[in-house]
Amino acid sequence: MLRFSVRAVRLWKMNSAIIVAAGKGTRMGANVDKLWLEVVGRPVVAHTWKQFNDAACIDEIILVVRDGMQEHFAELADKFKFQKPFRLVVGGVERQDSVWNGLEAVSARTKIVAIQDAARPCTHAELIAATIEAAQETGAAVAAQPVADTIKETADGKIISRTVDRAKLWSVQTPQTFRVEIIRNAIATARQKGLVLTDDTAACELIGQPVRLVKSAAPNPKVTVPADLPFIESLLRSVV
Ligand code: CTP
Ligand code: MG
Repeated sequence: MLRFSVRAVRLWKMNSAIIVAAGKGTRMGANVDKLWLEVVGRPVVAHTWKQFNDAACIDEIILVVRDGMQEHFAELADKFKFQKPFRLVVGGVERQDSVWNGLEAVSARTKIVAIQDAARPCTHAELIAATIEAAQETGAAVAAQPVADTIKETADGKIISRTVDRAKLWSVQTPQTFRVEIIRNAIATARQKGLVLTDDTAACELIGQPVRLVKSAAPNPKVTVPADLPFIESLLRSVV
């Protein structure tokens, strides 16, 4: 009886992941699909998918992909035996549009949604779980790190105008994790205002929703330019 009710509660409150994988990867260079670059034996996106497939705190995965790529993603699931329920949906022109399409596809039982860049393959289960816990409390949370370098502001790209107080600066990553109704409301507001935001927490700022910073204990880099690959490869080599 107890077992039944614990299971019922678990089913009622689902945690979903949206992995956004519908970008063009322009900064990586022409004719290279960065998500499909093979690193330590599998494509970048397969590492990311595996982290969420293996994370006990995630119940379902929505992969947002470019139209025409659905078959390749389905083959990836077969090849690497990803067992967790997943759905493929088509992305949009901007990252924000892809996130929106992902939000339309999450289960009706979803309470918390963790939004992840497919291009960020080193995200650990502990970090995913920590953002979920913080989002349950605050409504919104994001993986982040204090900025390590001293930051300068410049007006013309040549001469320093001033030094920014580093103590107040954090760089944000993914997962960006929310109670689902909060992120739906936040992105709907951005869309109504005709704003295109590069990250989901900016949409929360727009509606006055506090976002908790969750410090990443381990490096959690994104594949953006070719120079990112050696570091990411060394990190993945230590876990695969
Ligand atoms: N993304 C997406 N839909 C878009 C744009 C981006 O799903 N219209 C995804 C990317 O696939 C990536 C993540 O959002 O996993 C983070 O974006 P970014 O690193 O900027 O990737 P790209 O937009 O693909 O690269 P670039 O900006 O260099 O073109
Ligand atoms: Mg981009």
